Amino acid sequence: MATASAPGKIILFGEHAVVYGRPALAVPVTQIHADVDVTASSRPGIWIHAPDVNLHAELSSLPSDHPIASVLHNFFFAFGISPVPSLDISITSTIPVASGLGSGAAVTVALMRALSSHLDKLMTDEQVNTFAYEIEKLHHGTPSGIDNTVVTYARPVYFIKGQPIETFKVGAPFTLVIADTGISALTKESVSDVRKLWEADKVRWEKVFDEIGVIVRNAKEKIENGEWRALGALMDSNHALLQEMTVSSPELDSLVESARRSGASGAKLSGGGRGGNMIALVEKDKAAQVAEAILSAGARRTIITEIS
Ligand code: MEV
Repeated sequence: MATASAPGKIILFGEHAVVYGRPALAVPVTQIHADVDVTASSRPGIWIHAPDVNLHAELSSLPSDHPIASVLHNFFFAFGISPVPSLDISITSTIPVASGLGSGAAVTVALMRALSSHLDKLMTDEQVNTFAYEIEKLHHGTPSGIDNTVVTYARPVYFIKGQPIETFKVGAPFTLVIADTGISALTKESVSDVRKLWEADKVRWEKVFDEIGVIVRNAKEKIENGEWRALGALMDSNHALLQEMTVSSPELDSLVESARRSGASGAKLSGGGRGGNMIALVEKDKAAQVAEAILSAGARRTIITEIS
């Protein structure tokens, strides 16, 4: 039997602009994770059990573009595994789906690692990451690759599309409240809507992406110098630019507002937007009070996490 786990992730700064070559900052969230067990099966076939999404099926009964089926087909093809031995694959995840927390990338990474270990096909992190990026492209159109990178390496990442992975140091730990609107939103759609805006007026949106790039570089410097209190204003500015890009929503804006009113130093949506999650920067001793206020404003759930 082989098991593997991969964490969730949140984007601190730079989502969407990162698709256009600007930098972004993201960190793993280890409180939430996807876990995969692979064992030899006593019955013929590849049996997939994913109770969180109510999936109990044999691989051949799934459409080939099903997210889990596509990982398996691509994996067996890439390693020339034929015939494929009978397997029982169990997938569980505590990462909310379609909420900007990297659930798809985490399932892909954990599944590949468990398969490669069970079938004795050694994979480096770089190979896992490249493979996961190919899978992200199948389902998300034009992803930057930030989700699969953070989830694969499980490290804070200063990410620029197409460049080697660069991590960053956290000079002094800081606390975030992550809050879920409970609304699922497909990143693919918000990314495609931003592309339509960009295609219609490249000069305007390149300028907006540049402004986000400046915020991200500034935020990296503040985080590395331990000046995390300065991040609040940067989050607010980044959120305003994401609103301009039409990827916020009334629900996200309402949670962001309630975080600010209840004592957060700054707040913004995180990830693809339109639904999913927002993040609020808080003094550690205010985290519970801010989380409570965000829940009262309608958040489905909150996670308090320390970035260190
Ligand atoms: C999604 O987590 C982040 C986006 O910037 C899309 C991407 O980078 O692929 C919205």
